[in-house]
Amino acid sequence: MNPHNPGTLVRASILHFLRDPGPEPDPSAWQYFEDGALYIEDGRVRRCGGWDEVLAALPDMAQAAARYLDYRGKLLVPGFIDCHVHYPQARIMGAYGRQLLDWLAHDTFPAEMALADADLARASAEHFAQRMLAHGTTTASVFATVHAHSVDAFFEAAQRRQLRVLCGKVMMDRNCPEALRDSPEQAWEECRALIDRWHGKERLRYAVTPRFAPTSSAAQLDVAGRLLESAPDLHLQSHLSENPGELAWVRTLFPDCRDYTDVYRQHGLLRPSAIYGHGVHLSEGELAVLAQSGAALAFCPSSNRFLGSGHMDASRALAAGVRLGLASDVGAGTSLSMLRTMAAAYEVSMATPLALNPWRLWYLATQGGAEALRLDEWIGNFTEGKEADFVVLDWQATPDLAWRIAHCDDLAERLFALLMLGDERCVVATHILGQAAFVSGQERR
Ligand code: GUN
Ligand code: ZN
Repeated sequence: MNPHNPGTLVRASILHFLRDPGPEPDPSAWQYFEDGALYIEDGRVRRCGGWDEVLAALPDMAQAAARYLDYRGKLLVPGFIDCHVHYPQARIMGAYGRQLLDWLAHDTFPAEMALADADLARASAEHFAQRMLAHGTTTASVFATVHAHSVDAFFEAAQRRQLRVLCGKVMMDRNCPEALRDSPEQAWEECRALIDRWHGKERLRYAVTPRFAPTSSAAQLDVAGRLLESAPDLHLQSHLSENPGELAWVRTLFPDCRDYTDVYRQHGLLRPSAIYGHGVHLSEGELAVLAQSGAALAFCPSSNRFLGSGHMDASRALAAGVRLGLASDVGAGTSLSMLRTMAAAYEVSMATPLALNPWRLWYLATQGGAEALRLDEWIGNFTEGKEADFVVLDWQATPDLAWRIAHCDDLAERLFALLMLGDERCVVATHILGQAAFVSGQERR
């Protein structure tokens, strides 16, 4: 025990995952403590287990000094992880009536152009970071806009709250409005400066962010590859194989590539630190290439439904050995809630040969996301030494949910009901590094 900084002892029902429970859920993949304890020191998990067992293992001095948080009757899980989201697009969520390419041209690009105004970028980043906490999301992989100041704005908002996040400046040098266009050289200069300013600072990490193949020239995709080589541990985020119109366009833009995945492969952008949003229309061959490269996919079910992009077969991707996280993809996604996103993932999976089971859905929103983003050495579950980011959820947040929960027979049913019927109204508290950051509908500053 650190005598100057006593620990925190949290009592709640606790669920966390050690690995993917798989299609036939393997109970050794998770731990659930109905009367559980999480003991935290210096923002890190020291012990997680049953209440009696954790207390018995704690030295008396530590027990006497600890701050005690009583969330009995609530469910405590690791902070949610949103593997792919665009903070500047929160203001166009739910824009009516178009598929991907028209939606980008008519709704998205104008919204991103507006962030040329640095004040608006700061206000948008503040709003977004606050809403993350309100939804129990403590980590996200975030697209800014092409403007370097939009990355500064987001990292500043995240740093103030000690969020563990990835973010990057969108790189686009063709097929977009002039006002959103950079060049390979400008992208190099601006990204290098941002990497020097932010990457590895506290809990912030830089993600090289070419928007997608159609809006970057081959020269700019090469710059993305060179950037990844320019500093250790950089991440990469982009989009892949989302919409049929997009696929046809990529074929005409890159006639020498075997398929969409091959575009990124040829530019050295398939690697373990990479995560691609969507992957709805991938062939078996493309899935095998992704699995072999170690690159991950971000499954964006509400976005795919909203833009009519198609039904991603998440079980197939996992069976192929591809790491997978869950993502809101706001503003094409229609909610920042990872509970709503889990529900959408289940509903989309019902249109595929194998539905996602409740355990796998909770895994994907927590430890699965950490693994997909290659952040699992720090976050994702409550094994000893992990950063203590967590969310406390109310099983009874609405009358409909309470009534349903009262009539569930077992934990799997309750967990499924909570994700299907829940949303941010279920979030009692969000804790960052053990500290309360959002409680009872209010941000704690
Ligand atoms: N593909 C390229 N850009 C975007 C974007 O902003 N959102 C989505 N859903 N797909 C994209
Ligand atoms: Zn996206």
